[in-house]
Amino acid sequence: MSSVKLENVKRFYNIGKTNEFRALKSIDLAIDKGEFISIIGPSGSGKSTLLNMIGCLDTPTEGKVYIEDSDVSKLNSSERAKIRRERIGFVFQQFNLIRSLTCIENIELPMEFAGTGRDEMIKRSQKLLDIMGLGDKGNQIPSEMSGGEQQRVAIARALANNPQIILADEPTGNLDTKTGEKIMEVLIDLNRNENKTLIMVTHDNEIADVADRIVRMQDGKIV
Ligand SMILES: Nc1ncnc2c1ncn2[C@@H]1O[C@H](COP(=O)(O)OP(=O)(O)OP(=O)(O)O)[C@@H](O)[C@H]1O
Ligand SMILES: [Mg+2]
Repeated sequence: MSSVKLENVKRFYNIGKTNEFRALKSIDLAIDKGEFISIIGPSGSGKSTLLNMIGCLDTPTEGKVYIEDSDVSKLNSSERAKIRRERIGFVFQQFNLIRSLTCIENIELPMEFAGTGRDEMIKRSQKLLDIMGLGDKGNQIPSEMSGGEQQRVAIARALANNPQIILADEPTGNLDTKTGEKIMEVLIDLNRNENKTLIMVTHDNEIADVADRIVRMQDGKIV
């Protein structure tokens, strides 16, 4: 069973207009469970578009996307939200934490959407915070934390519902080298020790080299 499979996936914007743009042209890609894939390529080559497709944030214009063998390419937005909530953890360059919520509340949010019971939610969010080395910062809001700390909260949030697949779009892009290395260690550890499928977009060739496989994008195609 593949963890993720894309068959002839295309994503066109502004179809039929003078500014029609073909962001993904014909993507075939199969990723095994527990694999660590890095996606590299120039700005505008379609890396984020591809990751959003895998993460069910977007649907293809044509072609099929399978997440653990279910076809997600034709699902409506609430069905896609369910797949995202249960099977996928997403980590972004800008952290994307909710600014008005504390760390703990940010981590609890996906569990609330999943209908997790209150006690279980409190236990699990505290455990994730501890794992990320932020056990005593649960009541702080994002603006009271460093970039590296915020990204660790974002990783904890991505893990809240224990997804099999972790997607990361330039997760170290807003961090200094040393902090970025620490975040990478956390993600690689999840891949190696918990067998999570890790798919990461990066500009950094050194980071890309650590992966099991590098997918190179150019002009909306894998090259
Ligand atoms: N909603 C949209 N409407 C029109 N064009 C879009 C839209 N979203 C993305 N694009 C275009 O699709 C192309 C691919 O964008 P994408 O964000 O996937 O690039 P990327 O490889 O992630 O680049 P970067 O390294 O800068 O993040 C870009 O040329 C972008 O302008
Ligand atoms: Mg991008």
